[in-house]
Amino acid sequence: MKIRFALPPGPVSARALAAPSAEAEALLSRLDQNSFKPEPEEVLPILTDKGWRVLVGIGERAALDDATLRRIGGNLFAELAQAGIVHLAVGLDLSPEQTAQIAYGIQLRAWRTPLKYRKTPDEDEVWHLAEITMLCDAPEIARSCFARLESVGKAVHFARDLVVAPGNVLTPPAFVEALGDIPGIELEVIDPRKAGLNLLQAVGQGSAYKPALAVMRWRGADKKDKPAALVGKGITFDTGGIDIKPAKYMELMKGDMGGGAAVAGTLMALAARKAPVNVVGVVAIAENMVSGRASRPGDVVKGYGGLTVEIIDTDAEGRLALADALAYTSKELKPSKIIDLATLTGAVEIALGYLRAGLFTTDDALAARLLAAGEAEDEKLWRLPLVDVYDDAIKSEIADLKNCSWERGPDHIHAARFLQHFVPDDIPWAHLDIAGTSEAMEDGPLAAEGPTGFGVRLLDRVLA
Ligand code: BES
Ligand code: MN
Ligand code: ZN
Repeated sequence: MKIRFALPPGPVSARALAAPSAEAEALLSRLDQNSFKPEPEEVLPILTDKGWRVLVGIGERAALDDATLRRIGGNLFAELAQAGIVHLAVGLDLSPEQTAQIAYGIQLRAWRTPLKYRKTPDEDEVWHLAEITMLCDAPEIARSCFARLESVGKAVHFARDLVVAPGNVLTPPAFVEALGDIPGIELEVIDPRKAGLNLLQAVGQGSAYKPALAVMRWRGADKKDKPAALVGKGITFDTGGIDIKPAKYMELMKGDMGGGAAVAGTLMALAARKAPVNVVGVVAIAENMVSGRASRPGDVVKGYGGLTVEIIDTDAEGRLALADALAYTSKELKPSKIIDLATLTGAVEIALGYLRAGLFTTDDALAARLLAAGEAEDEKLWRLPLVDVYDDAIKSEIADLKNCSWERGPDHIHAARFLQHFVPDDIPWAHLDIAGTSEAMEDGPLAAEGPTGFGVRLLDRVLA
């Protein structure tokens, strides 16, 4: 899908195109008789005797912020992609900056599961809409605004492509390879067995594929500036291991690397727009499988920092893999701060649903920045308590910690407290549990049902 920016045709200005014309008035009154009221952000295509006309509800002008504009763009694309329209001209009475935000919304929504996984696409899957021309009074300004946004949008698409990829396609080595292909990013691949990342090794040892710790670097600022670190859970498939998951919906666990995909996407976006920051992205990559070499419940494993963990449940593997990634990052990469993202617990999905990710941190300033960025980007967070009251739940009789508890309790908080043991107190750290938000259960304005790429836009904004 191509998005162009142009001046409105002939002497007609964008303002005139957007102004209520006699034709539009007539349409609206006809719709009114049918008790249709265009709601803000609603898009209504109408086939008239003069061809297609599209009504767009923009609501109160004063409330027209960037997030609203993007949602309008997304809805516009969703309504029109399959309507039979091939080339759409959009003339709204908006500034070039606002026009670029509409275009960004269109781009974000214009992703779908790659058709390469089918022999032939279904008839009703065809997107007719091939080209959109955004009309405004200063198209070159809109174009340059969009160029920056578009690079983030491409990174969101990249993250979604990774999440949707089946477990037999995005295996651990394939994931490593995909990370190595990000333009402008340096990749270092660490063998967990050689480096003493024994928890990550324990998670991956049942698989035919070797686990890996991927370290990606973007240097956009002074060499002396400490990098911000992003750490992602990259379980390419989570069977649960010996504590195997129920069959129903297990296939969704191909997306258990959504945190790693968000980290990779953010680095892609930062490099594409040459952001003046230093960032390291660390992804703990493994496949959690069942086999004669898989970890057993009750195994005790010494993690990278020296703490030992009793593996109570092999299905609580994400926190094991992340623990080593966090300890390694803290010790070896000297970060200014750490933000980790993981599809970590079913519990957070129950607590917060699909519209907000869980935020755990002891750093109020970092919390404020993350929460604000989440609101601005429509990647919303909700802060949850990182408190010691449940610590007994992860005390082990034999090791320093156990990875979960069989008792009823808030597993998302247990998991966050578990992770906290692997980050020294003097490094500001935040943990985002994105198990509910990494994939949408229904269509939304910026993403259809399926992978959302949650985290890329949020982190891009926080690091910018
Ligand atoms: N990857 C899952 C968490 C998950 C659940 C992600 C649903 C996305 C959607 C994680 O590895 C897991 O299995 N967690 C267990 C932990 C339990 C065994 C303590 C869970 O949430 O059931
Ligand atoms: Mn699991
Ligand atoms: Zn998992």
